[in-house]
Amino acid sequence: MVVSPRRYHITTFGCQMNKADSERMAGILDDMGFEWVEDPYTADVVLYNTCTIRDNAEQKVYSYLGRQAKRKHEQPNLTLIVAGCVAQQEGESLLRRVPELDLVMGPQHANRLQDLLEQVFSGNQVVATEPVHIMEDITKPRRDSQVTAWVNVIYGCNERCTYCVVPNVRGVEQSRTPEAIRAEMVQLGQQGFKEVTLLGQNIDAYGRDLPGATAEGRHLHTLTDLLYFVHDVAGVERLRFATSHPRYFTERLIRACAELPKVCEHFHIPFQSGDNEVLKAMSRGYTQEKYRRIIDTVRRYMPDAAISADAIVGFPGETEAQFENTLKLVEDIGFDQLNTAAYSPRPGTPAALWDNQLSEAVKSDRLQRLNHLVAVKAAERSQRYAGRVEEVLVEERNPKNPAQVMGRTRGNRLTFFEGDIAALKGQIVPVRITEVRAFSLTGERLEAAVTA
Ligand code: SAH
Ligand code: SF4
Ligand code: F3S
Repeated sequence: MVVSPRRYHITTFGCQMNKADSERMAGILDDMGFEWVEDPYTADVVLYNTCTIRDNAEQKVYSYLGRQAKRKHEQPNLTLIVAGCVAQQEGESLLRRVPELDLVMGPQHANRLQDLLEQVFSGNQVVATEPVHIMEDITKPRRDSQVTAWVNVIYGCNERCTYCVVPNVRGVEQSRTPEAIRAEMVQLGQQGFKEVTLLGQNIDAYGRDLPGATAEGRHLHTLTDLLYFVHDVAGVERLRFATSHPRYFTERLIRACAELPKVCEHFHIPFQSGDNEVLKAMSRGYTQEKYRRIIDTVRRYMPDAAISADAIVGFPGETEAQFENTLKLVEDIGFDQLNTAAYSPRPGTPAALWDNQLSEAVKSDRLQRLNHLVAVKAAERSQRYAGRVEEVLVEERNPKNPAQVMGRTRGNRLTFFEGDIAALKGQIVPVRITEVRAFSLTGERLEAAVTA
């Protein structure tokens, strides 16, 4: 009799860090002989990799869990796992809330999934949330894309922004060694990946926790050094990195980006607020003037650079005038893209306890006003692409129009054009931009240069 393999499903919430963790956990499950299935309600092993950055992100998880918990009563063989940041934040109390769970595991335990599952299969309910040294990756991640890949360079965050749960749930900074990062990239290059995004919650902190310093006392390993160290990896044509912190974003780094041809002219540097008082209350460690100087420097070296960022509206105590300073910064800088959010009080963070919280009505009104401005400015920024020829790295077929493929420019603008995905996937092709929208472009492929 042929026994069909057990099937697993992973749903991922939250940021790129979680997506990268999910790809590694999927790799482990593949290795263990499980088979991926798209539908979470037909899987035998269901893993939710969760996010707790805002309350609505967390609530989403509970509604999915409710349905799966019910299913488990009819299908006792179902294995239910909560991984990621809600798991870390809630720990054991998640088991009280959803007793049907088999495994609750924090982000630092992602690489230990096999171990933990074996404990589950021998009959235990397991909680793994203690801080650990993150093991070097031993399995091959199951990557979503065959063209672009994430590579973690630093885990955790040592900042203490007063609104943010990340340091509580991701732990202290742990850098991977330059050698381990390069080895992963060499493999990616050999497997045909064309673009690598180096990942860290505060990527500018890379290397601070690694041993070694130069004669001048500078850390031996910085993000800048890392870029030089991995830049020549064969096959990898494009490099990006995220997320940058304005407090540590140096001119040395900017110069390296300008100098190194594979590093794309796209920078994600969250500013959070355009008001100095609010920035101070957030403990961000810079002023809006300093932020503007960073962007000026980036643009001095790379005039066409695309700039994206994150911002929060309705932080406790934010006045209308302070909010207008955020609008002013957005107006002046002209972001290519901006992720915006209404402040959400998070358990275990200082700002959640302050008594100057704003009403939901004020927050959502400000969010709407900011989003409107963001769309106007992004559309303005898109105008510069009209008629230009851009290098597009083709990733996928356009799901909404099978005659088209889609990919990204070096500046990270999503771009569509007519073409055959089988022939173009993973190619970098010149595309003349014929239509511009706020957050995407349409163009036509330039005929390939005459071959000899
Ligand atoms: N490490 C990055 C971002 C981490 S979280 C940085 O330092 O910028 C991603 C984004 O979520 C943040 O940039 C912030 O804009 C938003 N965010 C974090 N905590 C939040 C909260 N309590 N309420 C609303 N937005 C929040
Ligand atoms: Fe959160 Fe601040 Fe760390 Fe970013 S730098 S993850 S906002 S604490
Ligand atoms: Fe969310 Fe955790 Fe990322 S809280 S934003 S998944 S670090």
